Amino acid sequence: ARGAVAGHDLAGRHVVVSAGGTREYLDPVRFLGNRSSGLQGYALARAAVARGAEVTLVSANVALADPAGVKVVRVETTAQLRDEVVSAAASADAVVMAAAPADFRPTGVSTSKIKKAADGSAPAIELEQNPDILHEISTQRARAGQVVVGFAAETGDDTGSVLDLARAKLARKGCDLLVVNDVSGGAVFGSPDNEGVILGADGAATEVPRGSKSALAHVIWDEVAARLQD
Ligand code: CTP
Ligand code: CA
Repeated sequence: ARGAVAGHDLAGRHVVVSAGGTREYLDPVRFLGNRSSGLQGYALARAAVARGAEVTLVSANVALADPAGVKVVRVETTAQLRDEVVSAAASADAVVMAAAPADFRPTGVSTSKIKKAADGSAPAIELEQNPDILHEISTQRARAGQVVVGFAAETGDDTGSVLDLARAKLARKGCDLLVVNDVSGGAVFGSPDNEGVILGADGAATEVPRGSKSALAHVIWDEVAARLQD
C-alpha cells in the first residue's frame, strides 16, 4: 500500500504547492505586490519531497533557489497563478495554497510607462477583483478525494476573533484544512519561524507551537496524509 515505507508517507502522491506573492502590473515597470517571502511554501515543497511525493511548486516572485527534486513553475500575476495551479491540480492528490495572491488588479495595464502630470496631479488606479483560486479548486475538485489546504493570516476585528474569522473563511473557501496565523502581534513576513492552528472542515483543530517553517510544513503534511485515501 502507499505510504507503507516509514518516512515516505507521500510516496506515489503528486502534491501541488503555491508560494510567494503575486504582482499586478500598472505599466511595464511598476506593480502592486505584497510582502510574502515564499519561505513557508518552499518549506512545504522540501518537506513533501523528503516524504516521497512528486512535487509541483507554483512560485510567484520569490528570491529563493529551486528546491532539489521539485518541478518549479514560475508565475507573476494572480491570473497566471490560477492557470498553473488549476492545470497542476488536475493530477494532484493534494493542493496547498501557501501563496499570497493579490486580491485586486488594475482594470487596465498601461503599455507605456505612466508619466507624471505637469500640474502635479496624481493618477487614480482603478482595481477589479482577481479570481479566488482556493475557492475555485475547493468547490470544483479536479479529483475525488483530493485534499485542499489554504492559509489565512488574520488579526481579529470587531466582528470576531482570529479563530471565528478563520472558521468562517474555511467554510467560505470550501477547503479541507486552513492553516491560521495570528498576525495581530506584528509581521511574520520573511521570518524563519511560524506558528498557528490548523483547522479542519471536519472540526479538527491542531495547534502548532512556534517553530521553524519546516516543522509547520511537516505538521501540515501529517494532517494531509491522514486525509488521503488509498
Ligand atoms: N487565495 C486564493 N486566491 C485569491 C486570494 C487568496 O487562492 N485570489 C488563497 C490564499 O492562497 C490562501 C487563502 O486563499 O490560501 C486565504 O487567503 P486570504 O487572503 O486570507 O483570503 P481572502 O479570501 O483573500 O480574504 P481577505 O479578504 O481576508 O484577504
Ligand atoms: Ca486576500
